[in-house]
Amino acid sequence: MRNIAVIGTGYVGLVSGTCFSDIGNRVVCCDIDSMKIDMLKKGVVPIYEPGLEEVVQRNIKAGRLSFSTDIPVAIQEADIIYIAVGTPMTITGGADLRYVTSVAKTIGENMNGYKVIVNKSTVPVGTGRMVERLIREHLGDPSLEFDVVSNPEFLREGSALADCMNMERAVIGATSDRAAQIIAELHQPFNTEIMITDLESAEMIKYAANCFLATKISYINAIANICEQVGADVTEVAKGIGMDSRIGSRFLQAGIGYGGSCFPKDTHALVHLAESVGYDFKLLKSVIAANDAQKLVVVDKLMQVLGDLKGRTIAVLGLAFKPNTNDMRDAPSLQIVPALLRKEAQLRCYDPIAISEAKVHFGERVTYTSDVEECLLNADAALILTEWDQVKKLDLGKVKKLMAAPIIVDGRNCFPLRQVREAGFIYHSIGRPEVNLDEN
Ligand code: UDX
Repeated sequence: MRNIAVIGTGYVGLVSGTCFSDIGNRVVCCDIDSMKIDMLKKGVVPIYEPGLEEVVQRNIKAGRLSFSTDIPVAIQEADIIYIAVGTPMTITGGADLRYVTSVAKTIGENMNGYKVIVNKSTVPVGTGRMVERLIREHLGDPSLEFDVVSNPEFLREGSALADCMNMERAVIGATSDRAAQIIAELHQPFNTEIMITDLESAEMIKYAANCFLATKISYINAIANICEQVGADVTEVAKGIGMDSRIGSRFLQAGIGYGGSCFPKDTHALVHLAESVGYDFKLLKSVIAANDAQKLVVVDKLMQVLGDLKGRTIAVLGLAFKPNTNDMRDAPSLQIVPALLRKEAQLRCYDPIAISEAKVHFGERVTYTSDVEECLLNADAALILTEWDQVKKLDLGKVKKLMAAPIIVDGRNCFPLRQVREAGFIYHSIGRPEVNLDEN
């Protein structure tokens, strides 16, 4: 059993801290946001993540998990300190390290014995060394020993608990063997493959992994756009190329581009990092540009079917950047909804859980419902932006009766072509042949 302090109770910190407590460690999760900490103390989780609240409550009850705003005390009592604070994007596309910097100083000031300081936040290469330097500069007693480790997270929102408990690998970049062994041991109960490396390589692995996945998505979206012109079906193409184990079948779903808290931020940050060392990362710049353009293909598709969108009622199905989350950060809907409003369409938006988040962005300019059938009622067309189960499981026969016209533009390829053809829909999706009524 280890005493762990996790600083920052955002997504990464909260999930990681909870999982570390669930495997038997004593964990205190800290934040400067006292409202958040008060909620967490009562077992109320401020983010939407399936299953998390239950595991938080279980570990509070077992006395392994606690929450605090007293960061100095948490540091003093811990032998492992995880830094999991936010690293938002700056206007130039780099990572804003002010929170990491401030935590590093506080750690230095409160050191009272050997500790391992682990960086879990996504940070540019070189940040681990900077944290090491800052802690050293702020040490009360210069003889105190410590080590810095980079242990990047690979959690996906919506399946973060499962991703953490069954992690595919733990990357541990350390400044000493002693620290690497401590963090490797901490990960033993996860029964995962452990890779021990140097600090800089671990930091680079995080960016390289996320940017590679983003590249895979932009690549399949580009292939989808060509498929549409040559009469091929991108889902078949993805299946065919994914059978090659060198390529792999995952992250080849064509759609309206990637969003969320990681890929957009990390792709920009890596371009920025490359620039700072004199490398023009043209490949990744193209990935970003392709993703920006991909978000708007569904607007063109709607206009292709409906013509002028002015005054037409569009049922927008899904607002979150992906299913099982209420996260709207960099969601494609943030570009698509305003583009449709500029064309003076009437938007009725459905999302099972992200409505209050969406209201922050769209205000009263659209109407909202968390009832998918209500959203579809008398709509001139449906536009699918998030592949929620509630959307994928829709009975198309019933949908046809609800809508004013049987038109679906599907940005997430939710339905097999045969199903929509049989149900009598005009159906335009991504990278697949169009279904039009004359062929039904
Ligand atoms: C991602 C990484 O997967 C995770 O390892 C990292 O730690 C954080 O960033 P997350 O942003 O939660 O996780 O979601 P993910 O499931 O990876 O999806 C990211 C985006 O890519 C979503 O907008 C999704 O719709 C899109 N996507 C994903 C596709 O368009 N096609 C795919 O095949 C896969």
